[in-house]
Amino acid sequence: MRSGKTFLLLLTIVLLTAACSSPAKQSGEREMEVFIEELISKMTLEEKVGQMTLFAGHMDQTGAMVRADFEEDIQLGQVGAIFNVYGEKNIRKLQEMAVNNTRLRIPLLFGLDVIHGYRTIFPVPLAEAASWDPEMIEKSARVAAQEASAEGLNWTFAPMTDISRDPRWGRIVEGAGEDPFLASLIARARVRGFQGEDLRDATTIAACVKHFAAYGAPQAGREYHSVDMSERMLREVYLPPYKAAVDEGALTVMTAFNDLNGIPATASRFLLTDILRNEWGFKGFVVTDYTSILELIPHGVASGELDASEISVKAGVDMDMQAGYFQSALAHLVKLGAVDEMTIDEAVRRILRVKYQLGLFEDPFRYCSPEREQNDVMTPENLEAAREMARKSMVLLKNENDLLPLSKSIKTIAVIGPLADSQKDMLGSWAATGDWTKAVTLLEGLKAKYPETTIIYSMGCTIDGDSKALFAEAVSAAKRSDVVILALGEAAWMSGEAASRTDLGLPGVQQELAEEIHKTGKPAAVVLLNGRPLTISWLNDNIPAILEAWFPGTMGGHAVADVLAGDYNPSGKLPVTFPRNAGQIPIFYSARNTGRPFNPDSKYTSHYLDSPNDPLYVFGYGLSYTSFEYGEIKLSQDKFTGSENIEITINVSNMGKFDGEEVVQLYLHDPLASVARPVRELKAFRKLLIPSGQSREVTFNLSADDLAFYRLDMTFGPEKGEYRVFVGGNSLADKAVSFWFE
Ligand code: BGC
Repeated sequence: MRSGKTFLLLLTIVLLTAACSSPAKQSGEREMEVFIEELISKMTLEEKVGQMTLFAGHMDQTGAMVRADFEEDIQLGQVGAIFNVYGEKNIRKLQEMAVNNTRLRIPLLFGLDVIHGYRTIFPVPLAEAASWDPEMIEKSARVAAQEASAEGLNWTFAPMTDISRDPRWGRIVEGAGEDPFLASLIARARVRGFQGEDLRDATTIAACVKHFAAYGAPQAGREYHSVDMSERMLREVYLPPYKAAVDEGALTVMTAFNDLNGIPATASRFLLTDILRNEWGFKGFVVTDYTSILELIPHGVASGELDASEISVKAGVDMDMQAGYFQSALAHLVKLGAVDEMTIDEAVRRILRVKYQLGLFEDPFRYCSPEREQNDVMTPENLEAAREMARKSMVLLKNENDLLPLSKSIKTIAVIGPLADSQKDMLGSWAATGDWTKAVTLLEGLKAKYPETTIIYSMGCTIDGDSKALFAEAVSAAKRSDVVILALGEAAWMSGEAASRTDLGLPGVQQELAEEIHKTGKPAAVVLLNGRPLTISWLNDNIPAILEAWFPGTMGGHAVADVLAGDYNPSGKLPVTFPRNAGQIPIFYSARNTGRPFNPDSKYTSHYLDSPNDPLYVFGYGLSYTSFEYGEIKLSQDKFTGSENIEITINVSNMGKFDGEEVVQLYLHDPLASVARPVRELKAFRKLLIPSGQSREVTFNLSADDLAFYRLDMTFGPEKGEYRVFVGGNSLADKAVSFWFE
């Protein structure tokens, strides 16, 4: 039990903190703190530890709960949250146990990985990032929260805000790509979408920022592998998206499985306390990723259950997912005097705050509504939003001689490839409760879009098998057609967790299939369905048109057809570099120059003997059915001191026949600084619709903060001197000017 003195001290701190916010907010916060302190003062040590415990259930395909071996623990008040259980009835049943059968009637949190949709599945997160459209991404997360909360859930394990520059790593599919600026805006959009404006609104759910930290940079791209990086790289590139999500108000944070510079994230006081709480002021709670407390033993930093629990709780972990270590070890550790009960109280306080903020103490069943469960999922509006998001995520990588869009009066289309009609693969990984049997395939989408056209389908081969038995049939289909749509890529299971690859080419015999189709001489467009950058130089060299469609979700087939037919003019831009070969990895646009930048006339400069340095497609790249021309950059002034902003203006014209959206991108380079700076860094962008034949003027505002970086002494701020600005439609933007910061 905490002493009355500590209680008073805490209350004073709370009151002082509250004094900085609005009066209504202050009194709300005061009420919450008083309520929570009172509750904690009634809790036994075991009940406190119970709040710090999260267990998984297991559901079968019919939506029945088939494993719930924690029911007794719930009734003893020894569980704080449950995950992987959904459905109004299941959740109501467990919540009833928690609030009706326990002494203190503390409601449970119910979590699930609602990553890119709940029942209506949106494109995978990497695809959404390719839209460069934070507003639409916010809407996607909003729909996901509405659907999930309609079935009883109040917590999602998203957004995943891990930067990754390594497409070998399968979880690159779950993030927003390689760039901290773009990823930070997207992280904020997702938090806003999930949590909405009012946490007590029953259509909002708590977000969980993961995986803290640097999970996206495992050595050699191998899942769960160690991460070793400089603090400068960590702070400049990997931490900003987590921080952006925290600043946006994300209620919870999840630790990462990996070690960072030798210290497992789940044992890292540096990450969980020094940075997250002390530097960033995070007020919510920290949950582990799955059994990562237990994994401190194989990591080699804990000798057993007691040790692992002590290390992690002291580092700043508040809730143990699935290891059950806190449940069996923490009370014992307190009794031994190894862990202070105040540490436990603080963790419980953080967890109860989230429950309070969600309104669960007021009404533990606010997320349990049979009507909403019946009416609010997979609505026509949600399906339409998923289709819109999918269209916006697609990236046109190549379109020689304007092969696309395909005319509506085309007579015969051959639709070939293992992904053309594979419902199972449309949703991608982490598809929550998405039902793949409801997904629209590319073949179905094209049939609906081209009702008058003869469509011949041939699978050609499987995704990863080595049989060529179906090649002849596919070739014959191609020969009988006016144009071929080749749907190639990865199976859904090939990206996501535990899905690292060393060869990023098309799996199986898919490229050979493409080669056979190419030999027929028929015009062909490849539609790629995949969860990561693939090495597709052969396709790029030989196939006239390539559309990156990623895993586009429930409405994917319709969305691809919208783009192929020109009913939507593609506007996506790559959020991640596409290498030519896996040997170039990690490859990203914001690298440093080196002391020996590549010079083709000199051997001893930075290059490979067997590959160019440059990637196949650069960050920010993507074509449209129209073309955009950039004017010259105008600056409001060429010197600035930081007391005012500098304005950068450019004129962009749509020179083609189609209306189109362009993502106007602004990059900066600091050519002379105390620390070598990247050759370019994205600092601003604007996505805008420009009607055919028209121009738009775009103005960006930069402040001294946009020039800041970790200087030689690791302080964060700008340095005086010249800055180069580049503006254009991708990271190779060639319009450039300089200004001086004085
Ligand atoms: C993943 C997390 C996920 C958790 C719960 C882990 O394996 O790494 O991202 O939230 O499982 O499903």
